[in-house]
Amino acid sequence: MTRRVLFVCLGNICRSPAAEGVVRAMAGDRLRLDSAGTSDWHRGNPPYRPMIDAAARRGIDLRGLRARQFTRRDFLDFDLIVPMDPDNRADIERLRPEGATTPVHLFTDYAPEAGMNHVPDPYYTRDFEATLDLIEICAAGLMRDLF
Ligand code: 4NP
Repeated sequence: MTRRVLFVCLGNICRSPAAEGVVRAMAGDRLRLDSAGTSDWHRGNPPYRPMIDAAARRGIDLRGLRARQFTRRDFLDFDLIVPMDPDNRADIERLRPEGATTPVHLFTDYAPEAGMNHVPDPYYTRDFEATLDLIEICAAGLMRDLF
């Protein structure tokens, strides 16, 4: 049964920590959650301040999270890996260990009604609200899929 879910983006300071926080608010203690970045650019840092603030306006507290880089071992430590965009997915798949069968599914695949194949990166778009809107829709879809 899926119990350990890892969300992955590029920097691990905007999209994947937000996904982790939103899903945690929905799942409570039914899932073990973490997030990681395909890059090590922000290792040890809290989420990006504008994302912390935008999430806080929705009752989601991201302040305690710290960025880390995705590693090959995550294929063994998690039951499901959820990248935010196809580039993240390709970078993850390049690290898949021989024989590892851990599923990797785009977050947007859980919300076909949204018609998106990626979660837009607000670090570049600056539209934190639109990204959080989509994350909430994908999170609801993930919950429907898992429970
Ligand atoms: P994220 O957004 O992948 O959603 O965390 C980014 C944050 C920082 C950078 C790129 C993307 N950066 O270039 O520092």
